[in-house]
Amino acid sequence: MTEQGYFTESNSADVVVSRNANAKDARLAEVMAVITRHLHAAVKEIEPTQDEWMQAILFLTRTGHKSDDWRQEYILLSDVLGVSMLVDAINNRKPSGASESTVLGPFHVANAPEKPMGANICLDGKGEPMLVKGRILDTDGNPIANAKIDVWQTNDDGFYDVQQKGIQPDFNLRGVFRTGADGEYWFWGAKPKFYPIPDDGPVGQLLAGLGRHPYRPAHLHYILEAEGFETLVTHIFDPDDDYIHSDAVFGVKESLMAKFRHITAPDRIASEGQSGPFFEVIHDFVLAPAK
Ligand code: BEZ
Ligand code: FE
Repeated sequence: MTEQGYFTESNSADVVVSRNANAKDARLAEVMAVITRHLHAAVKEIEPTQDEWMQAILFLTRTGHKSDDWRQEYILLSDVLGVSMLVDAINNRKPSGASESTVLGPFHVANAPEKPMGANICLDGKGEPMLVKGRILDTDGNPIANAKIDVWQTNDDGFYDVQQKGIQPDFNLRGVFRTGADGEYWFWGAKPKFYPIPDDGPVGQLLAGLGRHPYRPAHLHYILEAEGFETLVTHIFDPDDDYIHSDAVFGVKESLMAKFRHITAPDRIASEGQSGPFFEVIHDFVLAPAK
């Protein structure tokens, strides 16, 4: 596009986009053209006062100042605007029958310890015991051997270990497991609780201003990897959680609901070596073939 003349209210986006005609990176030019057009359209619709526009700039400034190596307030902003889930959906269109993905979130730790199948990842002894089991399958229903299952969850107080360093044991409620030939997995954890996303920064203030709560319904996080298959980043959710219909980051999908059964039968309690009732979650995951 060639230069469109001087800037006016009506031709604003065209003038700015045409100025980028010599961009060296075609993708950058495409992305900036789309963003420029949508941003100008939004400003024309909103007609902000100078003061409102400055409020927006100061909000983004505070968002940057809140971010460091440990806290990424822009990712949180993307999460609560539903953009993280939209990017996830665009990049993870799965074939029919394959398990769906959802957001990774900020609390994954890369080097969690590998544990033998059946291990208890709950190191602080808090909460109600929970047995999680199922199979890792391909889209034809065959078990996947040597699949790596990386799981993490909050403790009974609704915090990840990395949010409570020195309070929770390191690697509390995290573990890596590998399936055998039968594709089966099982481990013990603690029933997860709903919890707030970090809301002590500008994104929390935005949520409050919009009359929105910061809570995520109880869930377990998974990264599932196996040779010849697409890596799956996902959760399973407790469908009975109070926040299941209003996840602050829009991560819930119908297919990711698991059943958290409360087991009270004395023979089951004894056969699992428990001293009291526990929860049982049975959930299979189906991995899509690698592209
Ligand atoms: C999480 O589930 O760990 C999470 C996801 C998005 C934002 C904050 C937390
Ligand atoms: Fe989480």
